[in-house]
Amino acid sequence: YASQPSSSLPLPLPSYNGEEYANVDWDSLGFGLMPTDYMYINKCSAGQNFRNGQLSRYGHIELSPSAGVLNYGQGLFEGTKAYRKENGKLLLFRPEQNAIRMKNGAERMCMISPSIDQFVDALKETVLANKRWVPPPGKGSLYLRPLLLGTGPVLGLAPSPEYTFLIYASPVRNYFKEGSAPINLYVEEDYDRASRRGTGSVKTISNYAPVLMAQIRAKSRGFSDVLYLDSATKKNLEEVSSCNIFIAKDKYILTPATNGTILAGITRKSVIEIARDHDYQVEERGVTVDELIEADEVFCTGTAVGVAPVGSVTYRDKRVEYISGSGTICQELNSTLLGIQTGIIEDKNGWVTEI
Ligand code: COI
Repeated sequence: YASQPSSSLPLPLPSYNGEEYANVDWDSLGFGLMPTDYMYINKCSAGQNFRNGQLSRYGHIELSPSAGVLNYGQGLFEGTKAYRKENGKLLLFRPEQNAIRMKNGAERMCMISPSIDQFVDALKETVLANKRWVPPPGKGSLYLRPLLLGTGPVLGLAPSPEYTFLIYASPVRNYFKEGSAPINLYVEEDYDRASRRGTGSVKTISNYAPVLMAQIRAKSRGFSDVLYLDSATKKNLEEVSSCNIFIAKDKYILTPATNGTILAGITRKSVIEIARDHDYQVEERGVTVDELIEADEVFCTGTAVGVAPVGSVTYRDKRVEYISGSGTICQELNSTLLGIQTGIIEDKNGWVTEI
């Protein structure tokens, strides 16, 4: 079963020796792993609750070859970001929403999850311990990756007898290689992402490797990523491999309803609330390929992705282009969301947690 890296415990905190920043070229950040000083680990046996976790040096974890997560994919992940405000304060965005999603996902995957408070406290501890890796204001964020893994040994198909809750961190900026420029999507019809009554809405690790093949194929053809359709009718939009999708026309914004096959993104939910507050008419419902083709604007939302403009969508042999850049709805929503996340715009909804 999983164990702490032996070289790592205990370590005094804070770890950053008075340095304000790690030695990073903040202007060349993309979305790749840059290991930081510490990770957080907490373990729990089946039939018990999580108790106290601890920080340890970022490093490898030891796993039994028969760990549930390795053999049967019993695992969940989350993603959230910490921002550095102009005054130096560190901010988390709606961390309790990630905690709730992990709790719900754990129920579906027959796992034990940390409590909401344990999850949020662990995030805060991880950010503070890795404070020097939080980019300067305007240069990106510290991406936090909480994992819940079935780490106990199993052979027959069954829930794992032990669970590990772990958080690691990496400074990041733009997700797509296009940077903040519009991305180009390909509508995938050969592969489905999720099926009705499956686990499409769960942030389980097992939803993500299956999308790689379509993604690699689309990238080799010059697209940024693929857009999935519903497996039942192939008429309605679902989501992109790593983010939710929105379309807009005039004052209307449409996004697929969370009916079990798409991920209920926290950025998705926040963007819907911001858009309504900005007097857009937002509908969460089935959105057809025909509506996509007729839209003025298309954009994606996700923690990693942020609010990313879509410049074109290719459906069969038809390439449709969309407006992007200044004055667009996408830009308005993006700058509002980012403004709230970074403490520049007043947080009227209580979304931001200062650490
Ligand atoms: C995120 O947006 O944080 C995610 O977890 C998506 C991941 C595939 C990068």
